[in-house]
Amino acid sequence: MWSDLQARYLATQSRNILDLFEADPQRAGDFSVETGDIRFDYSKTNLDSEDRAALIALCDVSGLAARRDAMFAGEKINETECRAVLHTALRNLDGGPVLVDGADVMSEVLDTLQRMGAFTDAVRDGRHAGAGGAITDVVNIGIGGSDLGPAMATLALAPYHDGPRCHYVSNVDGAHISDTLRGLDPKHTLLIVASKTFTTVETMTNARTARAWLTEGGGDPQAQMAAVSTAADLTADFGIPASQVFGFEDWVGGRYSVWGPVGLSLMMAIGKEVFAAFLRGGQAMDMHFRAAAWQENMPVLLAIVGLWHRQVAGHGTRAVLPYDQRLARLPAYLQQLEMESNGKCVAMDGSTLTIPSGPVVWGEPGTNGQHAFYQLIHQGSDVIPCEFLVAAQGHDPALAHHHQLLIANCLAQSEALMRGRSLETATEMMAAQGFTGEERDRQARHRVFAGNRPSTTLIYPRLTPFVLGQIIALYEHRVFVEGVILGLNSFDQWGVELGKELATSLGPVLDGTETTDNKDGSTASLVAFVHRHCD
Ligand code: F6P
Repeated sequence: MWSDLQARYLATQSRNILDLFEADPQRAGDFSVETGDIRFDYSKTNLDSEDRAALIALCDVSGLAARRDAMFAGEKINETECRAVLHTALRNLDGGPVLVDGADVMSEVLDTLQRMGAFTDAVRDGRHAGAGGAITDVVNIGIGGSDLGPAMATLALAPYHDGPRCHYVSNVDGAHISDTLRGLDPKHTLLIVASKTFTTVETMTNARTARAWLTEGGGDPQAQMAAVSTAADLTADFGIPASQVFGFEDWVGGRYSVWGPVGLSLMMAIGKEVFAAFLRGGQAMDMHFRAAAWQENMPVLLAIVGLWHRQVAGHGTRAVLPYDQRLARLPAYLQQLEMESNGKCVAMDGSTLTIPSGPVVWGEPGTNGQHAFYQLIHQGSDVIPCEFLVAAQGHDPALAHHHQLLIANCLAQSEALMRGRSLETATEMMAAQGFTGEERDRQARHRVFAGNRPSTTLIYPRLTPFVLGQIIALYEHRVFVEGVILGLNSFDQWGVELGKELATSLGPVLDGTETTDNKDGSTASLVAFVHRHCD
């Protein structure tokens, strides 16, 4: 099946996307889909309707419908960890029961959401105060999924902030916590320790440092610490009162956890009602994903475009380019979501994948990226499929002229990637500037753009909480669809374990209680350098 797709790609790769538009005046409509508030346009790719049909056929071949239904039904589809996968239950606000091992989990989910709301209200209106009075700042201490989701969404929803300021500390580099706490008042700061396992060394190291800062500064750790975790025993050992602990179950993966207690800091910033609108956006995308036919199913279409570019065409990376400054953390969020989920070469059945794993995901907001790496996207030797995101409207009517420029730039980039500039046009340009002969031809060659470079555009009316919820759930389901078609388990992350184990074993080597005898020459000499430069 992959070889058929690859043969199809090889036969048509030199075809020009512009010719596809010529041949089909309805192409923009045929290769776009809308659901809820958002529109996904994949017409500026080299797919024709036969390619699309061949890719969509993968959904049935791979048993996608059964797998999707199994996920929503709480079956243990995370087979290597023997867990259900139910982040969707966290946003199932008015849906039916969701069973895990025969028991409905919805009452617990809704109860926790209600407790988060009550705690958030009390912090926001000053009833739950610090040693010095009302809480002015919240510091979320977590890493990976316990950081990226709420940090990304807090920035994305900045126009809705009406609560305490939220800060995020993730890196074990002491610079991160030190720079974050500097300037904050330990009597007015709430620390939220967010860790699914409550054992992650970076988070626990930062949490201990922050707790000492709070205590030494006259704060009240009983009132000013909360925890988000699946490990109630460990949060109690850490000294956090049970009433300020918000639990969740192992069927919520770290990188899928922003919808529940891991979103507590976000809820503090925007309030429980706005947080609920975010959940409803995610729920709307779930309903679409469950009901829409494959050819109208946005997550499926986003996934098949991804598979076409990576597994069929062999493009190694995918650029995510939000023309939305408040989505500045989206590429980092998607790096974890996509690369931790599908960056695997062992299939669910233990066999080795015969096609590439998921791509490298990277990006920066436009227009900043245009002044940094777009040179390579337009004229580098590798084709980099680009995924643009843009809102029709910004949040500030007084700055509408900024927004118009932003949209113009976004649309111009996808057009430029597709259209390119021929040698003939470049030569005419140079001639018009007075160049002649060989110098004109040499100068012209530098100004040629190959064009025919694929991109997609996700466009939405405005970045509201509902829209953000739709976008994040869209990407989650895209990852799921790609994973099912590739035969992967998108919900484990064994690839992060080895480095953690070796970091633990290096502790005694660095503090000198163990030698470097068991280390390779490079590691031993790097440790020796550290020892030479430490007092
Ligand atoms: O190391 C990877 C990882 O397990 C991620 O999957 C997770 O989001 C992150 O670490 C943080 O884990 P925890 O929430 O348990 O601290």
